[in-house]
Amino acid sequence: MITSVTTHSPAETASFAESMATALEPPATVALYGDLGSGKTCFVKGLVRGLGSEDLVTSPTFTLVHHYSGPAGRIRHFDLYRIRLASELDDLEIGAVPDDIVVVEWPELMEQRLPDNVIRIRFELIAEKMDERKITVEFKDA
Ligand SMILES: Nc1ncnc2c1ncn2[C@@H]1O[C@H](COP(=O)(O)OP(=O)(O)O)[C@@H](O)[C@H]1O
Ligand SMILES: [Mg+2]
Repeated sequence: MITSVTTHSPAETASFAESMATALEPPATVALYGDLGSGKTCFVKGLVRGLGSEDLVTSPTFTLVHHYSGPAGRIRHFDLYRIRLASELDDLEIGAVPDDIVVVEWPELMEQRLPDNVIRIRFELIAEKMDERKITVEFKDA
């Protein structure tokens, strides 16, 4: 199933993500596609809040992964922007813990490793409209 929304502010993107969190039950993997500045990390902030965690969400661009904890379990937030070789993914153990919720920015390099039930979310900037983002959610129907 594919569905899309257009948001008009970072707050709107975060609250859209927050509302999506209720549908997420571990084990779940969410793959976030889109250019720099398209709103992926902003989305993760809302998602983590929606999962009931008050942990501070920041971009793991340099650290590759951040962990947050919420009532539903651990959330692992990856950013693979700086990864060049698929073999580097082995060390990250992305699919290692089945009970985790895994969120991945720049997932292109691990396309082959994404689970069957992955939720793909694409972020697009809209020309001339600074604060608008088109967000397309794609997942397999149960
Ligand atoms: N509708 C919107 N949704 C999300 N972010 C937006 C929106 N409009 C403007 N922005 C800005 O775009 C940037 C998105 O940054 P970020 O979430 O870190 O992107 P990414 O993780 O995709 O690189 C932020 O500076 C945010 O303030
Ligand atoms: Mg980011």
